[in-house]
Amino acid sequence: MAKVLNITANPKPVEYSYSLSMAQAFLEAYRQESPNDEITEIDLYETDIPFVDKYVLSAWDKLQQGTDFDALSDAEKNKVGQMNQMVDQFTAADKYVFVTPLWNLSVPPKMKAYIDTICIVGKTFKYTEQGPVGLMNGKKGIHIQARGGMYSEGPAKDLEFGDRYIRGILSFLGVETAASVIAEGMLQCRIRLMTSSPRRWNGRNRRVRSLPSRFNKQQG
Ligand SMILES: Cc1cc2nc3c(=O)[nH]c(=O)nc-3n(C[C@H](O)[C@H](O)[C@H](O)COP(=O)(O)O)c2cc1C
Repeated sequence: MAKVLNITANPKPVEYSYSLSMAQAFLEAYRQESPNDEITEIDLYETDIPFVDKYVLSAWDKLQQGTDFDALSDAEKNKVGQMNQMVDQFTAADKYVFVTPLWNLSVPPKMKAYIDTICIVGKTFKYTEQGPVGLMNGKKGIHIQARGGMYSEGPAKDLEFGDRYIRGILSFLGVETAASVIAEGMLQCRIRLMTSSPRRWNGRNRRVRSLPSRFNKQQG
């Protein structure tokens, strides 16, 4: 039985969000294919995630110098305790579904805050003489993203930092990225959906439904 985390960063209701509805289609297909797997859904816009601030930095400093967790200040304990729970939940999982909208060329700030809580030295990566090395080998991730504009080609091709960032972080942690599923040009698509056929949109959902088998395939 694999443990799957579905991590979403979108304040919209699912029926107004392309990325959330793609994720829902993916999870439905995944549940059918792997009914015994345990799926935990983390809605980051309903989750209090501490930012890395002066309390977190001073707590990390003190812990590194050998201070006991109990000897930290209340603010430090609170924030670092919460972050520890999130990274422990992350390391206990086997598969990750990251779901984001493209916001200002990147991921929403809640997703960035989450990533700051899971990139932890000694837990998800370590430093070696050759540089940092991920500790999450054998795990798999996918990224589902919706974009208003077009980035796969054209003048904005080099300006997309959301999918590139998620893939970069997964690779940094040693997680194999099984796929990115991108729906782009959705602002035009929305106008087209209102005026004509939703063929392109249905095509995306078909693709996302065919993904679970790829996600389940053994690493080669
Ligand atoms: C705050 C904000 C910033 C956005 N920035 C971009 C952007 O930089 N590039 C883009 O193509 N679309 C941008 N969009 C449009 C969204 O990517 C688009 O609406 C997409 O469908 C969002 O995904 P969702 O439908 O799952 O919410 C932005 C939307 C919002 C609300």
